[in-house]
Amino acid sequence: MTEPLTEPTTEAARRSPGSATSSLPSTPFPQDRECPYHPPAGYEPLRGEGPLSRVVLFDGRPVWAVTGHAEARRLLADPRLSTDRRHPGFPSPAERFANARQRRVALVGVDDPEHNAQRRMLIPSFSVQRINALRPRIQETVDRLLDAMERQGPPAELVSAFALPVPSMVICALLGVPYADHDFFEECSRRLLRGPGAADVDAAMDELEEYLGSLIDRKRTKPGDGLLDDLIHRDGPDGPVDREQLVAFAAILLVAGHETTANMISLGTFTLLRHPRQLAALRTGGTTTAVVVEELLRFLSIADGLQRLAVEDIEVAGTTIRRGEGVVFPTSLINRDADVFARPETLDWDRSARHHLAFGFGVHQCLGQNLARAELEIALRTLLERLPGLRLAAPAQEIPHKPGDTIQGMVELPVAW
Ligand code: HEM
Repeated sequence: MTEPLTEPTTEAARRSPGSATSSLPSTPFPQDRECPYHPPAGYEPLRGEGPLSRVVLFDGRPVWAVTGHAEARRLLADPRLSTDRRHPGFPSPAERFANARQRRVALVGVDDPEHNAQRRMLIPSFSVQRINALRPRIQETVDRLLDAMERQGPPAELVSAFALPVPSMVICALLGVPYADHDFFEECSRRLLRGPGAADVDAAMDELEEYLGSLIDRKRTKPGDGLLDDLIHRDGPDGPVDREQLVAFAAILLVAGHETTANMISLGTFTLLRHPRQLAALRTGGTTTAVVVEELLRFLSIADGLQRLAVEDIEVAGTTIRRGEGVVFPTSLINRDADVFARPETLDWDRSARHHLAFGFGVHQCLGQNLARAELEIALRTLLERLPGLRLAAPAQEIPHKPGDTIQGMVELPVAW
């Protein structure tokens, strides 16, 4: 039996013998992007430091940053890196997460073999086949939202009118959560991910869990036809899934299911409008939406800082990551590794972007990626077809985007057509 991990002090961690250099790391992590679709300029020094370097978290603690594509794939597939956020010393991108109450996050916060058991229960609902069957429904949702936007505009605020409601409506239908409650859970997600302090993160999670718990209780007596209804009445490996586990599944699927894709739609649209040559190629049939979506996923890398903790020593690229050390994966740099993607800073429909790590890699690779791809393809294609004159309705530099310690995307996106 290995000893439990204890929180390394800042000083002890700094003196770790596994450090790439004996000097203290000086690059803070994460950082805000200056341009919403490029990595922060402050990450630039990391590129020259090899596939692994040391960065410093908000609390002064140094952790490893993996920037090489090959090393990131290797490490993300390594079971000696844990995703269990309850480990002391698990790297947090901001104080509000580090100080929020420790909870059990389903899937992305659980290691194998438990993770595998959880994931196997959900995988069939996110298969290519099941998601393809949802495409007409996604198209209908997109059409209805664009009808409403056209009736009321121009101008329009694209995040609230389109980018957020598309994935929100789709995940509600898939899970069996009433969309009428969307203001409530979208606000909970916002506070969870970007609330100003730990108390806010805790309160948002409490409220979301309470809401989902009572929804699940109601469903036991009055079943619907969503994935949550299915899980309530299905047996897991150890018998029926208990209430706590159902709530944890519902919370991760609901939050991950709308926040991420909404950010990709808003930031993807902004990026296309800022790249007229590439946009023209798409409009004139010079490429397909599927290709565009894949390259946008690579280029934008909106989940820019996956986190892990070493539970054993790991040798990689001539260095040792010591047990108890934190590791972060800035996907914006990994997906611009010039050894893998030629001219990585260019948005290029002619490359094969498919092996990007925007959905992560290994056993935790995004469960909803087929759904995300379907939503992005339908949303972007239909938006551009229906509004050929789509343009930004404010100077690009004045449009607010999200800070570096959360999923990247636009806060607002004023458009006209
Ligand atoms: C473009 C949109 C999306 C992006 C960029 C994205 C990105 C990611 C990434 C990077 C991970 C891995 C996290 C890690 O290893 O630490 C992940 C995991 C996950 N994603 Fe997504 N995601 C997207 C959409 C979705 C959607 C629509 C769902 C729907 C339910 C979803 C559900 C999940 C779940 C449940 C996990 C945890 C999987 C596990 O640990 O086994 N995601 N996602």
